[in-house]
Amino acid sequence: MSRILFATSEAYPLIKTGGLADVAGSLPRALRSLKQDIRLILPAYPEARKRMGKCKTIAEFELDDHSIKLLQGRLPGSRVTTWLIDATFFDRPGNPYMNEEGQIWPDNAERFALFSKAICHIAMDRIGLGWQADLVHCNDWQTALVPALLDQEPQRPATLFTVHNLAYQGLFDYDTFVKLRLPAHLWQYEALEFYNQLSFIKGGLVFADSISTVSPSYAEEIQRPEFGYGLDGLLRRRQQQLSGILNGIDVDEWNPGTDPRLVQNYNRRSLAKKAVNKIALQNYFKLPEKPETLLFGFIGRLVEQKGLDDILASLPGMLEMPVQFVFLGSGQHEYEQGLRKLANQHPNKIAVQIGYSEELSHRIEAGTDAFLMPSTFEPCGLNQLYSLRYGTLPVVRKVGGLSDTVQDITPKNLDNDRATGIVFAGTTGDGLPEALLRTQQLYQNKTRWKQVQLAAMRQDFSWQRSAQTYLELYKTSLERNPKPLN
Ligand code: ADP
Ligand code: GLC
Repeated sequence: MSRILFATSEAYPLIKTGGLADVAGSLPRALRSLKQDIRLILPAYPEARKRMGKCKTIAEFELDDHSIKLLQGRLPGSRVTTWLIDATFFDRPGNPYMNEEGQIWPDNAERFALFSKAICHIAMDRIGLGWQADLVHCNDWQTALVPALLDQEPQRPATLFTVHNLAYQGLFDYDTFVKLRLPAHLWQYEALEFYNQLSFIKGGLVFADSISTVSPSYAEEIQRPEFGYGLDGLLRRRQQQLSGILNGIDVDEWNPGTDPRLVQNYNRRSLAKKAVNKIALQNYFKLPEKPETLLFGFIGRLVEQKGLDDILASLPGMLEMPVQFVFLGSGQHEYEQGLRKLANQHPNKIAVQIGYSEELSHRIEAGTDAFLMPSTFEPCGLNQLYSLRYGTLPVVRKVGGLSDTVQDITPKNLDNDRATGIVFAGTTGDGLPEALLRTQQLYQNKTRWKQVQLAAMRQDFSWQRSAQTYLELYKTSLERNPKPLN
């Protein structure tokens, strides 16, 4: 049994802005059931604190002139011991990264540097808990300074850094580097400096004993210039320590058979009942109630990554056909506006809800026939996995985790009963329209459609296998650590 400190800036159901929260809320549980002594650690945002319910202060300490309290509780619905770092930096409304108007907090560098320093302090047991981590598992740039800071210690826990999205790197100017009181020698190209900026993510990529990302394909892709954001050279240098482990999903939270948010539960044997959810969704979105019309869904952050440019360009050409689209998301203003405009122009075909709703996201997964996910890149992607489980066929671009998890409806795959969705390749503008057409064609053939739905629903993306692979990677990382504790 290893002592693992799992560090993250969000974890469902305490606080969530995207897939990282889903992973951080379910992987630690899976690891605990594999008998690991795992502690989840994240900042004590007001919402997270409220949702954690009962908790107690187990330590108080000072770091960089900040008073910090360590709160201990349980991740709701689990037995995972959860630690919240309580400091004034985190005690504000809004989400972990921005205020209620959607503006990035100007002091994010200081906030997540303090978080990272606190993680190191705790991992080294400088606060006298009698619990010292064997390994710290860091996730994304907000915790990426941890491996760099721990590397300064003569003896230290092993470190694993998981890249959930290389596009977000935590880049700041030199003055910020000075302000953060980081060791001066870390300002160099072989450390945290990146083209004259401070790069948080390099802390993880340069110093972690192991690096992982959330799908095998993305692990390959980020070693290439198209997906590497200038970090591909570094990643190629570290390819021996880099691997891809596919995310799992919480199969209890996302189970069409028991999901309490659905109007009608269903499973593989009662698939016909899925239609009740479709009618309810059409009603909810004030679209004409048409059981036979192919209904597409989209849920996600409205950012370039999610293929919004292609969606906005392709949709008008599709509207001659009997199709409907529902969108749930928020993000960049121009995409919100673009979708709203289309919905206003075609109120019988397109409906949009701008915002965030956990409940509606489940109802879209259940009520739609097909799920649009034409991401330009996708480290893993969770929505296509939820879609598969709900018998909603994903329409995806052949990138990253999407290509690792969805099998296209080629004649061969259909004959072998392996097809689970619609996959298109390339970055040209006609990829998505063609894929939508193919979806429409398949939908005409009810027997084939149902066959693909059943194959999709048979897929197993539970955490069990991936959690086991993480355990092996923890073991390898412990062996790679050149300065182990004792
Ligand atoms: P990413 O992490 O890049 O945003 P993922 O597919 O890995 O993409 O995970 C996104 C997660 O966030 C999913 O659980 C998805 O349902 C959820 N999500 C995204 N936007 C919304 C929204 N507007 N309302 C509800 N859930 C959302
Ligand atoms: C990131 C990625 C997404 C992935 C998620 C969880 O937000 O964009 O593809 O599924 O992290 O790992």
